[in-house]
This record gives sequence, C-alpha cells and structure tokens, in this order.
Amino acid sequence: MSYEDKTRESARLFERASQVIPGGICHNLRYFPPYPFYVERAQGPYVWDIDGNRYVDFWMGHYTHILGHNHPLVREAVVSFIKEKGFHFGLPNREEVELAELVTALVPCAEMVRFCSSGTEATMYAVRLARAFTGKKVVVKVKGGWHGASTDLSVGISHPFDVPESEGLLPQVQEYVRTISFNHWEETERVLDEVAEDLACVIIEPVLGVGGFIPADPDYLVRLKEKLESLGALLIFDEIITGFRVSTGGYQKICGVTPHLATLGKVLGGGFPIGAVAGLRDILELGSWRKAKPSRVLMGGGTFSCNPVSMVAGAVVIKYLVENEDRVYGYFNDLSLYLRKKIESEDFGVAVRVTGIGSLFMIHFLKDGASREIRCAEDVIEKTYWDIRDTTFRRFMASCGAYLVHAGGAFSLSHGEEHINFLVEGIKRFCEEHFE
Ligand SMILES: Cc1ncc(COP(=O)(O)O)c(C=O)c1O
Repeated sequence: MSYEDKTRESARLFERASQVIPGGICHNLRYFPPYPFYVERAQGPYVWDIDGNRYVDFWMGHYTHILGHNHPLVREAVVSFIKEKGFHFGLPNREEVELAELVTALVPCAEMVRFCSSGTEATMYAVRLARAFTGKKVVVKVKGGWHGASTDLSVGISHPFDVPESEGLLPQVQEYVRTISFNHWEETERVLDEVAEDLACVIIEPVLGVGGFIPADPDYLVRLKEKLESLGALLIFDEIITGFRVSTGGYQKICGVTPHLATLGKVLGGGFPIGAVAGLRDILELGSWRKAKPSRVLMGGGTFSCNPVSMVAGAVVIKYLVENEDRVYGYFNDLSLYLRKKIESEDFGVAVRVTGIGSLFMIHFLKDGASREIRCAEDVIEKTYWDIRDTTFRRFMASCGAYLVHAGGAFSLSHGEEHINFLVEGIKRFCEEHFE
C-alpha cells in the first residue's frame, strides 16, 4: 500500500496543522514529503500512527529512548512520583542533587553540572562560559555540527555550509563564529591559528551527529585539546547525543580525551526535557549566584529547569545503564556489527556504507566511483546521495513500516536482530526501485 493510502488521517491532520502552524510542523526535521504521519502511541521499538499503522522506530524520540519507548521502569518511577509528590515545583528538589551526583561521578570532565531544559540552552551557555572564562570572543564549530538553533551556533549546519542558516541573525555576531572540517587536522589547525589571538573555544560533537554519525579520530581530539590549551582556549564536547549512549561516560570516556566542558541532554532526561552543562569547577562556578555582576555568567534559569520529572526519569535510566553497563553497551555493539555485516553481505545495486558507533548508525548510498571513506559532513555531501534520505527514502521506509531520519537512527534495548532484518529488507526494496 502506498504511504498516502495508509495515512489518510495523518493527511487530514497535516492539512489542519498547516492552517495554524508554519509549515504544519514545530520542528522542521519532523517534516518529510508529502506530510509526516501523526503518532498515536509508542511502545518498545514501535510507534503507531493515528491511522493504526505500526512502524519500527529508529528515531527513538530524537535518540533519547535508550531503553525503548514507554519503558516500564521509567513510566513507573514517573507516575508514582507524580501521584505521590507532584510534577513541577520551580524549587530545588532532592532529585536534582541526585542526578547531578550521578553525572559528576560518571562523566570524566564533570566536576560540576548545571541543568537546563534543552540541549540548545546547554550549548548556548557552554559557549558563553567559554568566552567569559577566556576573555576571548571567537567560537569555532564543525561544518555539519548541530548544537541547537542558538544565535551563536546557527552557523555552518547544513549544506551549503557557507550560506547563512537563517534570516534574523546579526552578521556582527556571526563574525565571531568560524567553522572547521571534522577530522581534518591541517585545516583545523590553520583556522585555529588564524583566530588564535581571540579564540575562546572549539565546540565539537566528538561523534559528529546529524552531519553523518562519524566518530572523531582519537588522535584528532588529542591534537585539538593540546592546541587549544597552548592557545589558552577551551575544548567543549557536545555530548548531547553521545552522553550515556555510547558509554556511561560519553565518548570522552571511550576516546580518553577529557574536554574542559561538555553538554548533555537526550538520554540524560530519560525521555523528558533536559539539557546540562558539565565541566571544570572553575569554569562552572562563573555561573554561580555567588559571583557579582559584571563577572557573573548569566546561565541556567528556565521555568522548567530541574523539574523533578526529568530528574527522576533521568536517574532511573542512568542507574539502569550503570548497573547493566557491560550487557547494554555490549548488546549495542553486537547489533551494530550485525547491521554492518548484513549490509555488507547484500547486493543493493548501489554501494551502501554504514557509519556510527554502538547504537548510533547512519546508512549512506554512495555515488558511482566515490571512495568509501566518510570522515566529515562534506564527505557525506560529496560522496553520497544524501538528498534522498529525508525525502524519497524516508517516505519509502515509512510505507514499509520503518521510521528513520537522515537514513539513520539509534537502537534501543528493545530492538533486536529481527528489526535490523526488517530494516535491511526495506533498504533493499528501496534500492531496487530507486537505483534500478
Ligand atoms: C549534538 C546536539 N546538540 C544540541 C542539540 C539541541 O538539543 P535540544 O533539541 O534538546 O535543544 C541536539 C539536538 O538534536 C544535538 O543533537
């Protein structure tokens, strides 16, 4: 059955939405042509739409649900907290201290942590802290890096990377943001040298996220940290996707490079809104009320920051991950290997490559003659049919009953080999139709 035939109620709802919401959607990424399906409910690895169709979900709520949708551990903890205690106090609570203790015990750079309500806020504050701590202005980010849509970081996110991402941004602000190519040390060093005098920080996803799910070479990160320290600038890891997903201490625990600051979110909230800035005490303390203006960094705030529901849900998930560490991350590595082997053993009529780490994966359809090496977002643009991922491919896979964004996603503990088989079968059928 075609996507349109099976999603008639969603079509009607999108029509209504388009009258009252710009583009009919509140997060552009959630749109795909001709219209997205609307979700009724979610459980384990599945979501059901309002027409009653079931999808194997690889999006997992923007990669948040590491245990699966609506996991009983999280649900029971949250429901019983709300029943017994309430849901939003706007006041300090025991739960925020407990979650902060978990973060500082687990994440190598985290001597202290401050919570907010989204990853976008966290990266915005991290950059502000870096500028205040160093007394310098320039922020360097990676082409293809997504850190949320704050004014400072809305630069070089999507192709073409040198065209402004948005109207309404002041060029004077953006002058202080420069971009580098992920994993390319020579170019990175050249840019850092150019701005050396006024460099506050580099903010980088140590596993490039939507830009391609590409892990940084540990050596690249080692050099980056050394260089930044020699220039008196800070290294910020944006671990909003990788934090607690690739290990209990994020990618920094795996690669052995400890940044000065890290931002966290997604898994940390156990499926509820959250963001966090973690890092060295001296830097974080700049945000304390103990500091007076003008030496204080305005950070935090937020009506819903430290809302106890996010704190409780996050703590349940993180404790589970810690208690089952070897089994959980071992399982994800096994699934990842299974997916790669399966993709390699099939003939798709087009070269297909998988990038990622552990539970995070992205499928790339390589252009004729392109090398298989994918080391940065520009490689994805140059070497692959990237523009079909969120149009024809996403729609086709949805018609088959699987949901992916950017032809990638995240496994949860509720996913198994049968879901990967289903995914690969769908990809095969897509390639047969599309690349014939
Ligand atoms: C690496 C990274 N940083 C920051 C953000 C922004 O987080 P949020 O959507 O919670 O504002 C995201 C969200 O996708 C992200 O993937």
